[in-house]
Parts: sequence; C-alpha cells; structure tokens
Amino acid sequence: MAAVQRRVGFLIYYPVVVILCMLLSGCSFQGNGDGTREGISSIIGVSQANMREEWRVALIDELRQETENSDDIQIITADATGDADKQIQDIENLIGYGIDLLIISPCDEKVLAGKIKEVYDSGIPVIVMDRAVEGFDYTLYIGPDNEMIGQQAGTYIASLLGEKGGNVVELSGSQSSKQGSERLLGFRKVLAEFDNIEITRLHLGAETKDAAYDMITAARNVVEHADVVFAYSDIMALGVCDAVRDQGLDDRVVIVDCDGFKGADEGIDLVRKGRLKATVSCPIGGKEAIDYALSILGNESGVPKQVILRSNIITADNVEESLEKMNSPVVDDGSRIKVGYSQVGSESNWRLANTKSIEEAAKRFNIDLHMEIADQSQERQYEAIRTFINEKVDVIVVSPVVETGWDEVLREAKRAGIPVIMSDRNVSVENRDENLTTTYLGADFMEEGRRAMRWIRDNVQNDSKQSIMEIMGNEGASPTEERSRGFREILSENPSYYIEYSDHGDFTYEGGREVIRRYLEENEWDIDIIFSHNDDMALGAIEELKAHGIKPDEDVTIVSVDATKEAFRAMVRGELSCAVECNPIIGDQLMKAVRDLKSGKQMPFRIITDEKIYDRDVAEEYINKRMY
Ligand code: AHR
Repeated sequence: MAAVQRRVGFLIYYPVVVILCMLLSGCSFQGNGDGTREGISSIIGVSQANMREEWRVALIDELRQETENSDDIQIITADATGDADKQIQDIENLIGYGIDLLIISPCDEKVLAGKIKEVYDSGIPVIVMDRAVEGFDYTLYIGPDNEMIGQQAGTYIASLLGEKGGNVVELSGSQSSKQGSERLLGFRKVLAEFDNIEITRLHLGAETKDAAYDMITAARNVVEHADVVFAYSDIMALGVCDAVRDQGLDDRVVIVDCDGFKGADEGIDLVRKGRLKATVSCPIGGKEAIDYALSILGNESGVPKQVILRSNIITADNVEESLEKMNSPVVDDGSRIKVGYSQVGSESNWRLANTKSIEEAAKRFNIDLHMEIADQSQERQYEAIRTFINEKVDVIVVSPVVETGWDEVLREAKRAGIPVIMSDRNVSVENRDENLTTTYLGADFMEEGRRAMRWIRDNVQNDSKQSIMEIMGNEGASPTEERSRGFREILSENPSYYIEYSDHGDFTYEGGREVIRRYLEENEWDIDIIFSHNDDMALGAIEELKAHGIKPDEDVTIVSVDATKEAFRAMVRGELSCAVECNPIIGDQLMKAVRDLKSGKQMPFRIITDEKIYDRDVAEEYINKRMY
C-alpha cells in the first residue's frame, strides 16, 4: 500500500516539481525524455559517495548500462561529493522523487547507518554497496573483499618471484582510503612471510595517473632494481606503465595492479596489451545490484543478506576467457537441473531444518536433488562426491564436515567440468586461485562469534573477572573455527572476561552434556558464563548442570548459537540467556544460486544469509514466529 501511495503521489507532482528539484539538488535522471513516469514501473535511486574515485564513476556507468535497455526501470543518481550530510539530504531528495528502491554507497558508513535504517524501516528496500554498515538494517549488501584482493596480489607476486625472491616497489594512494588500506593489509600480510622479498613503499597524495608517473620517474634509482612494481589501482598502474616505458625499464620490470576494470587503458586492457603482467579484478557490482534490485522489486524469494563479489587474477593466459565470461549472456531456460548434495549429517535440530529447507526448495526451483547424508564422515563425503561425478550431475553442493582435505576431490569435480557450491560450511583450499569452488552460501560464523561476545560484554556484569567455558563444535569444522575466532576477537578487547575452559561437544546434545560432566569430574563449578557453539550442546549442558544442582541463567549465564525453537523455549523457561541466530533456512537462496550458476551468471565469492540475535527479554515475543 505504501508503495502505491508513493507512486500515485509521484505521478501527480513529478513532471513539474521533480525535474526542478533534481536540477537544484544535482541529481541526474535517466528516464523518459519528457520527464514523466508513464510506462515506468520502478524507479531506483542511487546515492553515490563521490564521483572522484574512478571505480565509483565506473559503478554509475555499469548501473546505467544495466538499465538503459529497460523501458520500465529508471535510475536517478545523486553525487554526495564525499559529504555525509549532503548524502543524507540526497537520500531525502531521492525519496521525494518517489523511488521504489535505494542503492547507496555511503561516504561514511557510521554517519549514514541511521538514515539507511530509517529508509529501510519505511518499507523502501535498500541495497548498500562497497562499505557495509553495522547491524542488519538494510535489504542487501554487495561489495568486494578488498583485503582478499590484496592477499591475491601478494600471493601472485610471491609465486612470480619464486624461490629466488626479489625486489618489489609498492605504489599506494590515499584517495580511496578504506579500500586502499584493506588491500594494503592483505598484501603486506602475505609478503611478510617471505624473507627473500624486499619491498620499497612509495605513497601518493593524489591517486592520479600523472602523480604515479612522476613518482615512478623520480624514483628511477629504486625502480631500476625492482623486479615488480605493484600499484593498488588501475589509474596508478597506467601512470606506472608509461613511466617504466619512458625510462626504458619495461624489459626488466613487470607491473601488477588491482582493479581490473574493463575500459580502454584500464587493467584488463593493459593486460591485453601486454603492459601489465596481471591485474586482480575488483568487480564493481553494478550488474549484480540491478539484478538483485529486480528480484527484490519482484518480491522473489532467495535474496540473501550480503553478497561478497569474487575477484580473479587476470593474466595474458586467461584475459580473453575472462572477458568472454563477463560479457556472456545470462539465460535460464527453466529446464530441470540435476544436483548432487553431500550433507554433513543429522547432528542437530538446526541440521534437520536445513535439510528440510533444501529438499523443499529443490521442488520449487525445478531441481532434481540427490542428497547423501554423510554422518560426519569425510570419507563418506568423498564417496558421495565421486558418485555425483560418475552420475554426471549438473552441479555438486557440499556442506563439509571439516574445512581441510578437499583439494583432490574438488579437482576431480573440476576436471569433470562439474561446478561445486559450498553450502552452510566452507572449505579451506591450498590455492584459492585454482577456483575449485564457485561460491559459498551460508552464515558469517565469525560474526556470530563476535555477536555472542558483544552480548556478553553488554549484559554480564564485569566488576570482577568473569570466567568463560567454551563448548565447541567438532574440531576443524568451519563454524567451530570461525565462531571461536570471532568470539576471541571481541574477548581480546575486554580483559575482564577470560576463557577458563574449552572442550568439544561436536554440535550434539549428548556432546554438550559430556563437556559439563568432564569438567565437573575434575573441578568445582566456578564458571560464570558458557558460550556454546550451538543450541543442542547448550541444551545438553543445561540438563547436566541441573542434574548437579547448578541453576542455568542464575548460577551461570548461557549464550549459544543457532536460535532454534528449542532454544527459544529454554529462554522462555529462563534457562538460556541468549541465542545468536544461524539461519538454516537457506534452501531458496541455494537453489537460486544453482539456477544462476547454470544460466551463466558470474558467481560471487560469498553469499551470506540474514541473521539476528535474541535474548530472554524478547524470546516470548518471537517464539511463535520461529520456523525451526
Ligand atoms: O554448520 C552449522 C552448524 O552445524 C550449526 O550451528 C550446528 O547446529 C550444526 O550442526
């Protein structure tokens, strides 16, 4: 109803007032030449942080390209010129123009978070790009992983230099500071491990081609001893290429950069021309934003919460293939797709809900699903994957019991030409650039661990030191490792809390009981807080504590992950203090990803599901709405 009213209001005043307002406010409109909304079903407002940075201009271009052939979608863009207050005003102006969806790349994610929440709460979907805002008060976040881009560049350069090592000149700039500093972090983290690689750092004030040219020319005495010059962006790389050529050093020095944009003299073009050895692509995300905007406006199911875009190393060997992939048409003819799914087991209520969600979604998305349950055995998962390969399924999906040990079997799938999607849990492979998996779809386990500890910090008194027992999932599983890491990250900032005891309960009810039993065999009860990696273990622990006369929530605060209906019951009973959500209902998102993959869409690196946090104060309010 709100949308209809907005639209009607818009139609009445749009032609006269809006055009005037847009001119006054610096918004630009790509729509009917006569400035009317007739025949346009959706208007997308785009609020850009600034139009100085090259990739932001590229984003606006990509958004325009994606919509220019559509008669019924129009976009209005606004440039905040790097000013957060202006961006807030821009958003108000865009709303005044009757937009149906907002795409925003915030100039300051902290200042803009409140405004984004306000728009989202008003019922206008919001897609946040590039810089994630705290919390989950937006419809979807799309962005790259800049730290990973830096790591990829570092790994590539290290392999280029080989055992001999060598000299690297690193050229960084300050214009896109957050993006640049994340890339820098990743790059340095990798190269710090190589004693035989010497880095000389050059830093530019203004990130322009000319500044890069001048800097490299002035640093000739350093550059002539370098094996690689690494530039953090395409615009700097172009200046580097020219300077290296003009200094007559192009036979000796190779140049690598990040960005990999598609235009003339951008990263990909420079690789094609042989001027760059490699570029690490940073997808802009405009295509994905419009794609998801259409799904959101069409009320389609399967839209995730966060999409982290995939970056690739593009060299002369794969540049043509990469371009072909980027430009290839996306067509889903709706035909039946055969999927082999290796499910880790049936260890928890969470898992049962997850299996059910996947099976039901497969029917809705016309997927022929062959699911094998592995009962926590990696060997059985290998067997299942090999069976799927023999059966020549179209796509393999795996929820792996542990993170490591998958390279070989994944290579077999790759050789057979069968793409693999990781669902719920991820794997850690030796060389990410082998692209053994297409995407990961599931929760952000690190963030779940952080949220658990943040809740403890904010809710459990800390005037004296508080001891924590950590009940972990099975060793080596990604939710175990990442929840632990996220929890410890926040713990390390709060010295009034410490982990007294950690033990594995393997994600099962019995496992949780066992951990308490083992502890009490050796110790008097002296724990203030339990952090359990899932609800089943927390519920088992609660039963065991009660059997020993220890009162849950009174004698010990218990926080767990999953937020199943059983956990809500325990919160309502006053036994569990807090449950961090890990959403198992990912069937629709997974099946959408399968269909996208088969229709030729470029898959993101990670697709993250929507999750919240609940404690006993709100449990009563939400318990009847729980779906699992
Ligand atoms: O991988 C997700 C985890 O696995 C859930 O938190 C846990 O309950 C499950 O068994």
